[in-house]
Amino acid sequence: MQLPVQYQYIKDYFEDKLYQFALLDQDYIYLAPGFKYPLDSGGKRLRPVLVFAVYLGLQEKLCKIDNHEELELTLSDSPSPLGAALALEYIHSYSLVHDDLPAMDNDDFRRGHLALHRKMGEAMAILSGDALLTAAFLEISRSYRDYPEILGKLTANIARAALLMVEGQVADTVIDSEHLKQPGELDKMIINKTGALLASSFECGGILAGADSRLLLKLRELGIQFGRLFQIADDILDVKGSRDKLGKTPGKDAKNNKITAVTLYGLKEAQLMAAEIRDKCERLLKETGLSNPFFETLLDFVITRNH
Ligand code: IPE
Ligand code: IPE
Ligand code: MG
Ligand code: MG
Ligand code: MG
Repeated sequence: MQLPVQYQYIKDYFEDKLYQFALLDQDYIYLAPGFKYPLDSGGKRLRPVLVFAVYLGLQEKLCKIDNHEELELTLSDSPSPLGAALALEYIHSYSLVHDDLPAMDNDDFRRGHLALHRKMGEAMAILSGDALLTAAFLEISRSYRDYPEILGKLTANIARAALLMVEGQVADTVIDSEHLKQPGELDKMIINKTGALLASSFECGGILAGADSRLLLKLRELGIQFGRLFQIADDILDVKGSRDKLGKTPGKDAKNNKITAVTLYGLKEAQLMAAEIRDKCERLLKETGLSNPFFETLLDFVITRNH
């Protein structure tokens, strides 16, 4: 399944900046390798792309972009979505570095490479995660210092999402998995561990585009549903995907006795749930003014993706 054409333009733009920004400072010579490794090793960049896409989509500029230069030009207005996009990718990357640790999911591969703890040791993986989380907020504070109102809103939003993500990871990994069989508990865990950062990506795009509080609530709801769809697809891929395409180890959930949409309800039911959530996303795209070919194609990608 193809991604929308603008996805690649935004991803290229973002990665170009990401490599320039990723802690090049002389003060961090020992930390830099561990900090850069997870950022350098691929990934879909979904959360940062969403910040840009929502920001541009709400201004009806997204689908008009048909080359790299046009994107650069359209983004020349300030404040730029870049700071929020970097922060969310840093936090997402830290969450994966820690998720792969032996005390958590114990996975040796991530984004087609050895997981950071396998490459540089557990201590470096823990410390790099600490650094990525902290750097996210340094990035935000630097990027929006001339826009105090936006700075306050983005900081609160991203901090809350990062905390909810940890709440979800605790429910997934630390608490006895039996509790996830109670009605609504699995869904709540998914909404926290995966939905929160995706919802924040939608909301940050909205905050930067000047959305009012009503629209921001709708964007949050859209991000939550998008996150549910995304995680159920991830759980399906854990069963159906290949290591080559996924870049991480398939079959991990069953091996770790995880409760997921697939292990709890079965593959067929999980696929039906995904189709239902997709319909909800469609409705919310209309309600937020984001019903356009980019987001339609992105939904198709999420539901049929192989990586
Ligand atoms: C993986 O996220 C973890 C989940 C929330 C399912 P992604 O599938 O977005 O990972 P990358 O960034 O593309 O590697
Ligand atoms: C999402 O869940 C992990 C985070 C929120 C970091 P998974 O544990 O299923 O993610 P993968 O499959 O390892 O990428
Ligand atoms: Mg996990
Ligand atoms: Mg995992
Ligand atoms: Mg998974």
